[in-house]
Amino acid sequence: MENPKLSRRIFMMTSGGSAAALATTHLGTAHAAPSSAAGAGATTLNYPRRAVGKARAMPVNEAVTFNYPDASSMCYAIRMGAPVPGGVGPDKDIVAYSAMCTHMGCPVTYDGGTKTFKCGCHFSVFDPENSGQMVCGQATEDLPRILLEYDARTDSVQAVAINGLLYGRQSNVL
Ligand code: FES
Repeated sequence: MENPKLSRRIFMMTSGGSAAALATTHLGTAHAAPSSAAGAGATTLNYPRRAVGKARAMPVNEAVTFNYPDASSMCYAIRMGAPVPGGVGPDKDIVAYSAMCTHMGCPVTYDGGTKTFKCGCHFSVFDPENSGQMVCGQATEDLPRILLEYDARTDSVQAVAINGLLYGRQSNVL
């Protein structure tokens, strides 16, 4: 006949071992989670770094053209004249966007009177002071924003990445 104390002891040893194994598994999972979460938020695109110009030399409230991330993608940089969210430069007022409308890819133009980008094809309007937000028209997406960095030592503005997908592309960097 089986000894009940022995059985209980064996049960405790067995279940304790299982609990320990579960705890190890759980800790292992918890330990692995931060790295996978960081990986999910990280970009896989290898954006180039390109010079846009000298901040203090940029005219206020006028669009300056440059290409980013390659020669077939025209963009505008604008020194708005007053700080804007995400703006760079000595006055935190320089922003940049793709020059291609997100509706069907027509070139947008900058209207300094209203401080908006306008598309002449189907009259979409975008707001450069609010992350390129689509204000009205046929477009349903904001203008892709070119992310900039400013080096105060050299007064240089550089394009370093894009927030948003350029019109007509499956990836901003091929
Ligand atoms: Fe710009 Fe249609 S292409 S609104």
